[in-house]
Amino acid sequence: MPTFATSPGTRDILAPEAARWRAFQQLFADVVETAGYGHIIPPMFEDLGVFLRVGETTEIVTKEMYDFDDKGGRRIALRPEQTASICRAFVEHRPVTPWKVWYAGPNFRYEKPQQGRYRQFDQVGIEALGADDPQLDAEVIALAMEFYGRLGLRHVTLSVNSLGDSGDRDRYAAALRTHFTAHLDALSPESRATLERNPLRVLDSKRAEDAPLIAAAPKMADHLSEAAAAHFANVQSSLRAAGIEFVVNDRLVRGLDYYRRTTFEFVSTALAAAHTAIGGGGRYDGLVAELGGPETPGIGFALGLDRTLLACDAEGVFAAPASRVEVFVVDITGGDQATSVCAELRAAGIGADRAYEGRRMKAQMKAADRSGARLAVIIGDDELTANTAIIRTMEGGSQQSVQRDGLVAGVRQALGRSTP
Ligand code: HAM
Repeated sequence: MPTFATSPGTRDILAPEAARWRAFQQLFADVVETAGYGHIIPPMFEDLGVFLRVGETTEIVTKEMYDFDDKGGRRIALRPEQTASICRAFVEHRPVTPWKVWYAGPNFRYEKPQQGRYRQFDQVGIEALGADDPQLDAEVIALAMEFYGRLGLRHVTLSVNSLGDSGDRDRYAAALRTHFTAHLDALSPESRATLERNPLRVLDSKRAEDAPLIAAAPKMADHLSEAAAAHFANVQSSLRAAGIEFVVNDRLVRGLDYYRRTTFEFVSTALAAAHTAIGGGGRYDGLVAELGGPETPGIGFALGLDRTLLACDAEGVFAAPASRVEVFVVDITGGDQATSVCAELRAAGIGADRAYEGRRMKAQMKAADRSGARLAVIIGDDELTANTAIIRTMEGGSQQSVQRDGLVAGVRQALGRSTP
């Protein structure tokens, strides 16, 4: 028989890690819903055209898209990110602005899998459309920082930059092209190829041989229009007013073409690996119009769930929630008692589990240990006859006998829960 394992770059998320994912998403919902962001669930696949707007010179579009013809002959792509889908939804539904939404879920990119980089990975994110107020930029960034803080992360740094308006960006790209072309021999072959496609992305090269040329490259700050420069100055003063620490990194270009003006990235300094970017975002003021809607400014971010949890591991914070099983019922009289006791406890809101197949006492106690329960309820022949049950603490092993009809109350007391 053939056996199967997950495809490269995908994983099964098992308990208790899966409960940790849920807690992560719930905490994120709490933080952003408190700030007026409503939940949106876009589809996982869309017309390829939606995602081409992410940037036809980006690797995400040219190399990493999971696209295919469906049975109806439509060109479909699994979403590589969700910002483009949100903008498509905005054009489709024309909601009242400012439209503030949040999302959570998987994205798909055909990347080389490694620790912290997967082909299916999860993000949580927000998008705010219809306002270009720098205060909004600061709010969006502050919400990400608030969330990191609530996870317990302490070693997250924030870099910000402005890519200017589209004209600024084009002029800057031309200036970079001139600069790098003049020193082509000193550039790595990989960066020469990147230069052809997108001069801005050369700034992203981590290759040592490119470093001197990149250091000497023209600066975006010198190519910003007056309006974009004023906007960026306002974003910075709003961040300072909110007490948010940041560095301006004028080499921060990010991997998507739709960015205008403010861009930002969150890096975990607790992660030693190459993939320390745990989140990022920025403005994409032209994207809605490119998708056929009215000129509408937009800003948002996405945080990588997989990577952020690796950062949590590295900092020893945001552990997986404890098992919901509080009581393990050990029935050595055949199993009917376990059935009724479990039903009573569960109905009272107390997590309860049991063994099956009439296992011996020793095997059932082992299962109780593994379950993570704090208490065992034990019913043997003597208890059945006397209409009682034993409540035993798993740690320490102290026991008490209670009347069968007082069992739920006794368990509640032993768990330190007040009576309802
Ligand atoms: P991005 O920088 O491509 O931006 O992705 C955001 C985050 O998703 C990254 O910082 C990283 O933590 C995580 N991530 C990306 N690719 C992978 C991968 N292959 N494996 C694991 N984690 C990954 C966006 O996706 C934009 N849509 C963000 C945005 C929202 N901009 C404006 N609004």
